[in-house]
Amino acid sequence: MIDLSSARLSRRGFLILGTVSASALILPPFLTAEATAANRYQPFSSRLSLTINGRQRQLDVDTRTTLLDTLRENLGLTGTKKGCDHGQCGACTVIVDDQRINSCLTLAVMHEGASITTIEGLGTPDALHPLQAAFIKHDGYQCGYCTPGQICSAVAVMKEIKAGVPSHASSSLIDAPTFEPREIRERISGNICRCGAYPNIIDAITEVAEASA
Ligand code: FES
Ligand code: FES
Repeated sequence: MIDLSSARLSRRGFLILGTVSASALILPPFLTAEATAANRYQPFSSRLSLTINGRQRQLDVDTRTTLLDTLRENLGLTGTKKGCDHGQCGACTVIVDDQRINSCLTLAVMHEGASITTIEGLGTPDALHPLQAAFIKHDGYQCGYCTPGQICSAVAVMKEIKAGVPSHASSSLIDAPTFEPREIRERISGNICRCGAYPNIIDAITEVAEASA
C-alpha cells in the first residue's frame, strides 16, 4: 500500500503511483487477472441461422467451432469429411452460396444466413446427382474418403467454368475457361486423393461437364 499521506513522494513512489493510476484508467474492470482467467475458458455460444441442403436450420454453436465440425458434430452431416483439418486436402469441401470452400478453414458463425450444400444435398441413393453416377460409372474412387469433397468441388467447378471465372493458376495460360480435362485438372487440384484415382475422377467430371455444356 502506498502512503498517500506522505507530503514528499520519492521518485520510486511517484513512478509506482503513476503506474497504478494509469492501469486503473486504461484497463477496464473486467480485465482483472481473475476475470481474464475466467473469460479465457468461458465458451461463447451464438445462435446461427443457416439453410443446409435447402432446409432452414437454427442452432446454437460455440463461436470457435469450424463449419466442418458444425456440419459433422452438430448436424450429423458426416458425408463431409475431415482429412487434414487445415486446408490442404479438400476432403471437407462444401458449397456456400455457390462457392466451394474448405469448411475446416472457416468458423460457422461467419456464415449467418448462408445457403450451404453438402454431399447429402446433391443426390439420394435412389436419385443420384449426375456426378455421383459418373463417379460410379468411371470408378472415380477407391476408399471414397475424398469423394464427397471431389464431387462438391466438381459441382462448383462446372458453374465456375460456365460463368467464365478464370482459375487462379491457369488464367494467363488459358484464354477462356473450357471443359477440357486440363482445365478441370487444374481447377480440381485442391482436392487430394490419396488413393490416386485422379484419371478416373477427371474422366467422370469431364463427361458430366461436356454433357451439360
Ligand atoms: Fe479441410 Fe483437409 S480437411 S482441407
Ligand atoms: Fe481414397 Fe480418394 S478414393 S482418397
